[in-house]
Order: sequence, then structure tokens, then C-alpha cells
Amino acid sequence: MSQPTQSATPSASETPTSVSQPLLSVRNVNVGYGDTQVLWDVSLELRQGEVVALVGANGAGKSTLLAALSGLLRVWSGNIDLAGRDITRMSAERIVRLGMAHVPQGRRLFSGLSVEENLRLGAYTRRASSKSEITADLDRIYTLLPKLRERRQQLAGLLSGGEQQMVAIGRGLMARPEVLLIDELSLGLAPTIVDDILAAIDAIHQDEGLAFLLVEQDVQIALERADRGYVLENGRVALSGPAQDLLRNEAIRTAYLGI
Ligand SMILES: Nc1ncnc2c1ncn2[C@@H]1O[C@H](COP(=O)(O)OP(=O)(O)O)[C@@H](O)[C@H]1O
Ligand SMILES: [Mg+2]
Repeated sequence: MSQPTQSATPSASETPTSVSQPLLSVRNVNVGYGDTQVLWDVSLELRQGEVVALVGANGAGKSTLLAALSGLLRVWSGNIDLAGRDITRMSAERIVRLGMAHVPQGRRLFSGLSVEENLRLGAYTRRASSKSEITADLDRIYTLLPKLRERRQQLAGLLSGGEQQMVAIGRGLMARPEVLLIDELSLGLAPTIVDDILAAIDAIHQDEGLAFLLVEQDVQIALERADRGYVLENGRVALSGPAQDLLRNEAIRTAYLGI
């Protein structure tokens, strides 16, 4: 793998990423909690506008990888680059400002705040944005996820699981990221709700060319939408490749799809 060149410009959003250079590049990451290692030499790439699935069983280390990527967990060794900048030891806030937002597993909304207040919190890193820009972005999210417009004044804690997931994704989008990491989008939600949310994600992907890392225990849901996929097993990348190939892979069909 070639080493992306260091960028001298101050912000990722001002740094056009060339087609040949991955937007997100993870190389040989080792990380864990206390003395317990969870991820072993994990490497992964995400290119501009790509949808990549990261799949694996419960406990494989998917959320741990997202925590490491978004600056919530300090990596032991290895490197993480975003748009050619080394973000391995940057703060979570700085990483969001550089263009990577994280929709965490379990959504972590402020249940006592309204839908709109939660969405506005997603823009907290955008100090330079004017009121009218924020209002325009809220409107764009309400257009993509019309349920949220109806519910804009309701307390987030009173919403259904699907609506809460929409708020969490909308909050991530309010940071105007180039990369959105979504952890367990489908977990605990009815299939029709999952379809609605995935349709909104497709629309965002078409409109804005955002890159998505879809992290899922539901291997089929993620691989059906993705360009490429990585299978994490016991903290190691066991397989990777075009999503369609992974869906046809005998070992994956047996282990994860029950076929
Ligand atoms: N905060 C934590 N402290 C200690 N161990 C943790 C913590 N979070 C996760 N783990 C452990 O790390 C491993 C991977 O967990 P996780 O990344 O949540 O997997 P996944 O998201 O794939 O289900 C599991 O063995 C889990 O018990
Ligand atoms: Mg998880």
C-alpha cells in the first residue's frame, strides 16, 4: 500500500482527495482496553464516495474500530489517515472538524432535548457556520428524513427506535462530513424502517458523494448496499473484497447468512 502524502492545507474539506488516494486509510491498527487487546493489525481503506461494509459477529471488534477511528479510543500502534492527514492521535472533536462523523451504536441522543436540538448539536464543530447555513442544513435533513420534520419539537426520548436512528444519522450529517461511520444501523429495528433509513442514505450518497462505513452484525443488509466489504473475526480482518463476491463466498454464507 502506498503512503498517502501529507497535506499542508489546514482542513480536510479544502483538500481535494485524488482518486488514487484513499480518503480514509487504516494501517495495522492494534488497540484494546486495559491489558486486553481487541484489534490485531487491522487495515482498511475507504475511498471518496465509496460505501464500505464492516461486518462481523457480536464482539468481533467493530465498535472498537470505530471508537479508534473517531478519536474516542487511543490506538496502541498503527496509523489512521484521513484525506492524507495523520489523525491517529487527534481529539474526537478535531476529527469531526476534519470531515469524519460517527453515528454510535445505541444512538446516544439527548433524550431530554428535542429532535431539532439534537440535530443542532451535530453542528457544534462548525463554529464558522452562519445561522442561515445551519438552517439550510436542517431543512435538507428534514427533506431527506421527512418524519423528523413532523417530530422536530418532540423530545428525542419519546421517539420510536427507527426515528431515533434517523435523528442520530441526521445529527452526524449536520457536521457536514465527507465520511460517515454508522454503527449498527439496523439493530433492533423493523425491516421496513431499516429500508426507509437505507433509502435516505442512498439519496445522500447519490446527492453528495459522501463515503459511508456501514458497520453491521446483519451481514446481508450491509453487503447488499456496499461497494466493498471487510469481515472482522476476533479482532482481525478475515476477508475483504467486492461486496458481491463476499455475498457469494461460501464461508460467509455458511457462517453469517445461514445458507
Ligand atoms: N469499554 C470496554 N471495556 C472493555 N472491553 C470492551 C469494551 N468495549 C468492548 N469491549 C470488548 O471488546 C471486544 C469487542 O467489542 P466490540 O468492539 O463492541 O465488538 P462489536 O462491535 O463487533 O460487537 C469484546 O470482547 C468486548 O467485550
Ligand atoms: Mg458493536
